[in-house]
Amino acid sequence: MKLFNVLHGDLCFDYSVGVAIIRTLIKGSLFCLYCLLGPLFKLRGLKKKRLCPPIDNQILFKPATEIARRIRRREIGCEEVIIAYVKRCKEVNPLINAIVEDRFEAAVREARDIDDFLKSTTMNEAKIASEKPLLGLPVTIKESIAVQGMSYSVGVKDTPSRATCDANVVAKIREAGGIPLLVSNTPELCLWWDTFNKVTGATRNPYDTRRTAGGSSGGEAALLGTGASLLSLVSDIAGSARLPAMFCGVFGHKPTPNWVSVEGHKPGAYDKNWSSFFAIGSMVRYASDLPLLLTVIAQTDEARIGFNKKVCLEDIKFFYMDHCGSSATNSVNNDMKGVIYKLKRYLETTYSIKVQKANLEDMKLSLELSAFILLRIQDIYTMFNRLDDPKKSKSVLMETLKYLFFMSSHTFPAICYGIINNIIKQLPVSEYNKLLETRMRLKKQFEELLGDNGVLIFPSFISSAHYPHEGLYNVCNYTYMMIFNVLGFPVTQCPLGFDKNQLPLGLQIVANPGCDYLTIAVAQEIERTFGGWREPSESKRLTYTT
Ligand SMILES: *[C@@H]1O[C@H](CO)[C@@H](O)[C@H](O)[C@H]1NC(C)=O
Ligand SMILES: *[C@@H]1O[C@H](CO)[C@@H](O)[C@H](O)[C@H]1NC(C)=O
Repeated sequence: MKLFNVLHGDLCFDYSVGVAIIRTLIKGSLFCLYCLLGPLFKLRGLKKKRLCPPIDNQILFKPATEIARRIRRREIGCEEVIIAYVKRCKEVNPLINAIVEDRFEAAVREARDIDDFLKSTTMNEAKIASEKPLLGLPVTIKESIAVQGMSYSVGVKDTPSRATCDANVVAKIREAGGIPLLVSNTPELCLWWDTFNKVTGATRNPYDTRRTAGGSSGGEAALLGTGASLLSLVSDIAGSARLPAMFCGVFGHKPTPNWVSVEGHKPGAYDKNWSSFFAIGSMVRYASDLPLLLTVIAQTDEARIGFNKKVCLEDIKFFYMDHCGSSATNSVNNDMKGVIYKLKRYLETTYSIKVQKANLEDMKLSLELSAFILLRIQDIYTMFNRLDDPKKSKSVLMETLKYLFFMSSHTFPAICYGIINNIIKQLPVSEYNKLLETRMRLKKQFEELLGDNGVLIFPSFISSAHYPHEGLYNVCNYTYMMIFNVLGFPVTQCPLGFDKNQLPLGLQIVANPGCDYLTIAVAQEIERTFGGWREPSESKRLTYTT
């Protein structure tokens, strides 16, 4: 309890000695962990890295908007498109291990039906485009989003489960003519930033199979990175739509809260504020496809308009930060800083826009806000809190003991979540309320700075993809993404070049709620200028130099 008293001091008087000590302790113990285990994890680097084979079918290089248009014009068969993606999935999955369960045969049958429909229908192109905007396009879906009849275990070994109906977003995809291809891998109940579980195993990074694809939407990101997916449905509670997107070189968008339904996700929560932190969003290889997919899954007219507003880059105010502000996280490495300065220079020379350094005072508490507010979200479905069947809830203590004796069917991060969640619950309400006040203040600072025409350029993470298990001592460093769940802001992660190890680099574009069109517009400009997604076999040629 002392800990929180000191924390209290920090919030009132800024940087009390106590908080400095706690931070130093946390940072110190993570550093020790890093010294102890880092070399072990990094041993993987001695193994030979494998790259995915180059893409040989040109269809796989076409954005969704273009393929949809060509299908509508009967210039290309839907079956041909689906088969191209199925082939690519089968070719790369043995390397990346991203697929939990596929429905390839059903997808090909549905594609044939669409080809038949197009042969016989009298509907004109414009009508198809407005009523069935995704007609014939393959869509891949994170396993945590319910797809009727498909696996819905989300990495929990002892409770295998199938979805009995489609999540709201999946129903919308089907209504719009999209064809679900598969459900993809996540960590156990999406509770970690590294995709591995005891059902499907670990998903590997397509740019370097020794490294992690990130999490929790790691399966989707790895498939997109290799060109085995085009449009993908993902979710984001602490960076899950952005960290894997960065690690695998694609775009990831976390929308404004409540613009997209979060119904039909596992885990869900009874907390009345759940949907202000948690979001279902999308990942794509081509930024031009973001409005197409997001418009389909939007649940209100406001959202549909908000994803599609056009804006001139000259009318946007730009700010940047190259550190998340908290002294408890590591700084961003030079490669990741480099991309921020590269974009800044480009905007300043091409558009004569001044990109100013943002001064957001309360970002120095970004770690505390992220940790305490997100971990206090109530009644999240876990094996310790079975919302569907409370009697089946397990005890944290028992599971921890079982884990220590190698008898647990659960993974270390999922058990840790249970332990930490129990500790955080002890935080006195008064302290928690102070954090909520700080959050309000920080939101105001953002509102004043960005208004409805400003964006913040912000690092996605401190480095490119790390090795599996390195998340262990990186926990604090994920603040770079978590803070925007706490604040409820729309963010687009954009790929921007490669580092010397040929791993993708990227940055986040952040805006105030309701301003998704700003972050999307900037993502599209970044794609036009810097190339966006590039397949793994090209990364060597494109390695970024300052
Ligand atoms: C991430 O941050 C912690 C301290 O918060 C630090 O000890 C750790 O080494 C960092 N991770 C990496 C890979 O640098
Ligand atoms: C939850 O929502 C209510 C009303 O929408 C708001 O007053 C409250 O501050 C929110 N709580 C948190 C933890 O965000």
